[in-house]
Amino acid sequence: IRKLIIDVDTGVDDAQAIMLALSCTEVEVVAITCVSGNVHVDQVCTNTIKVLAACGRLDIPVYRGADKSLIGGGMEATHYHGVDGLSDAGIEMDVSGTKVQKEHAVPAIIKLVNQYPEEITLVALAPLTNIALAIRQDPGLGRKLAGVTIMGGNTQGVGNSTVCAEFNFAADPDAAFVVLQELNVRPTILPWEVNLSGTSCQPWDWFDEWIKTDSEKARFMKAIVQLPVHRQRVVGKMPFYRSCDLSAMATVIDPEVIAETQEVYATVELAGNYTRGMMVVDWNGRLGKSTNLTLVKEFNPGKARPHFERMLLDV
Ligand code: BDR
Ligand code: CA
Repeated sequence: IRKLIIDVDTGVDDAQAIMLALSCTEVEVVAITCVSGNVHVDQVCTNTIKVLAACGRLDIPVYRGADKSLIGGGMEATHYHGVDGLSDAGIEMDVSGTKVQKEHAVPAIIKLVNQYPEEITLVALAPLTNIALAIRQDPGLGRKLAGVTIMGGNTQGVGNSTVCAEFNFAADPDAAFVVLQELNVRPTILPWEVNLSGTSCQPWDWFDEWIKTDSEKARFMKAIVQLPVHRQRVVGKMPFYRSCDLSAMATVIDPEVIAETQEVYATVELAGNYTRGMMVVDWNGRLGKSTNLTLVKEFNPGKARPHFERMLLDV
């Protein structure tokens, strides 16, 4: 069984990614670490505990991490995820007995990785503030991990939150820079573009059936997914359903979901007037650097669907 630490800014798609990981017997979630991103870290912790409650998994420790980006960025995404980060669905849940861990997320990540060397896969679904801070405290961190998957960055210079940058990188460009430069192992990155292509997303008729599943988890999911669905289906008139963090988690639990990858050298623009936070891929090797990450270029949605269907079943 592979151990996971999931770093989140829950967030509708983070919530879905957590639900997917918890439904999967091949992985054990040893910790969920929270960071400011889609909403403030305190709300992220509350939302994460609600997701764990919906899955009957309040035994999983939740750690509060960085409340702001290292230097700049610091944007929220409440227009997309709702003021509460979960579609403002007004979900009432009594989680008052459940506390966030006293320890900060950053030392918790370092402690767990050192406790289980080469056993933990880190799944980063949020601005990379916690991960950058952990690397600066333990520069050998990357080499002690079994793997790292990051949802974030973009490869074509078209942003989803600034003109040129993807949200997780734009919300803390300096942290993204530190992670790409100093992780010292090759992360797998699922960039924004993969989530734009028709092949990586799910058709609406499939989504409609999926969300109709007769289970408590599906009812929870239906409530929290409302706002992103409205933005995508009604406002954006997108021909398919997209959930970036859910897709990223699918690649972690089943590598067959990845249809095509490319090894590249990439870094993060920190200085541009319009481009700060943009991932810069050296497609033609002009910088003469060794490749430092594995980019997911194509996703196999048919392979992911059985996992998504299973995740809504109550056990
Ligand atoms: C990323 O930004 C956030 O809004 C989502 O949770 C996801 O991690 C997509 O750009
Ligand atoms: Ca996220």
